[in-house]
Amino acid sequence: MNPDASTAIPPELIAALQQADHVVVFTGAGVSAESGIPTFREALTGLWQRFDAEDLATPDAFRRDKELVWGWYEWRRMQVLRAQPNPAHVAIAGLAQLVPRLTVVTQNVDDLHERAGSTEVLHLHGSLHAPRCFACGRAHLLPPGIPEEPEGGRRLSPPSCQHCGGPVRPGVVWFGEALPEEVLDAAFAAAEACDLLLAIGTSGLVHPAARIPWLAKQAGAKVVQVNPTATALDDECTWTLRSAAGAVMPSLLSGLCQPK
Ligand code: OAD
Repeated sequence: MNPDASTAIPPELIAALQQADHVVVFTGAGVSAESGIPTFREALTGLWQRFDAEDLATPDAFRRDKELVWGWYEWRRMQVLRAQPNPAHVAIAGLAQLVPRLTVVTQNVDDLHERAGSTEVLHLHGSLHAPRCFACGRAHLLPPGIPEEPEGGRRLSPPSCQHCGGPVRPGVVWFGEALPEEVLDAAFAAAEACDLLLAIGTSGLVHPAARIPWLAKQAGAKVVQVNPTATALDDECTWTLRSAAGAVMPSLLSGLCQPK
């Protein structure tokens, strides 16, 4: 039975956090929504509602039209460079100071967790800040700073690899590509070892990342969801906080600071 919580933090959840040795925070695009970064599947504003993933987020798309794909990811990278971590990112970084061990496992390709102070962050789907050569795979260093922002969908020529001259691609996992094996293994291991997993801002639809809350539950952990709308995870959760992450995560943190 999944007690449908309001934004109030159940005292039992605070007690579970106070007793936890290892907490996993599993995040999706919703944790960055209040920083102004679009999610993927929300009606009207979701990236996949306005753009076609098949034309932008696959290796074949890049082979077909590398300027369109590079331009779109540069638009997303500029959005991230202009964005700031929101109270949810800051609270997650603060949570790490209050529990013995905290592992952040994110599906997001932005660096807002790190900029908020989180240190142990596993990026399952790569990073906008880690482009590499499409031909030889070598990392490519982008110039520092925030160049002018291309509009979403405007074509830009990708840089050429300084080693082999091949085209540079975004450092994100595309559909049809494997997730970085070591990162995924570490994420699965953390899910199976933790006492409590917080799933924040994810629709829980994309595998293999979506297995993570389920693995935690199977291993006996309590699973908590923070999401203003119903998701595929609802029935897996011990608690569901129907709220925006930026609103509820600071309350969860202050609840944890109360004397036991
Ligand atoms: P989605 O867009 O599928 O889901 C975002 C979730 O965040 C939704 O359930 C929203 O209800 C919720 N949400 C929105 N605002 C929120 C807020 N302020 N606080 C908390 N939750 C909020 O994004 P993901 O689940 O991250 O992968 O999608 C997973 C993957 O699908 C992405 O990593 C990406 C995408 O295709 C690749 O591109 C490989």
